[in-house]
Amino acid sequence: MKLKIINGPNLNLLGLREPEVYGGETLSDINDYIETYCEETDIEVTFFQSNHEGDIIDQIQESHFDNYDGIVINAGAFTHYSYAIHDAISGIPVPTVEVHLSAIHQRETFRHTSVIAPACIGQISGFGKESYILGILALQNR
Ligand code: DQA
Repeated sequence: MKLKIINGPNLNLLGLREPEVYGGETLSDINDYIETYCEETDIEVTFFQSNHEGDIIDQIQESHFDNYDGIVINAGAFTHYSYAIHDAISGIPVPTVEVHLSAIHQRETFRHTSVIAPACIGQISGFGKESYILGILALQNR
């Protein structure tokens, strides 16, 4: 299985950014954790992070042309308003799981809406770095 993990804006600041919400680990720590899980379960994994909407859209599109079997995406705040990311996910057949470190439905009202959710096969929110692993499990068990 070939899998892409996409992280959106400000997730490069994990560790520094609101540790009371997102925890003290860096994105690199979380990626190492995911990589270990993928090695153990025979998944070929690629990581991508960007603060730029267009670059994220390019990565989503390329996932199809590069024959990925699944995408796990934490689109950060783009989750709440990027119709372009919704359309990119809808536009390709690669199954995509939306994940969040924090419990978005228990936070500010603007975080309760995900405009990308209708394009994804499911949403996992509130389990810290385990949200990514649960997203991968969902793709593995399809
Ligand atoms: C987040 C939740 C979003 O609301 C926020 O904008 C983020 C991170 C999460 O992982 O909990 O950047 O996606």
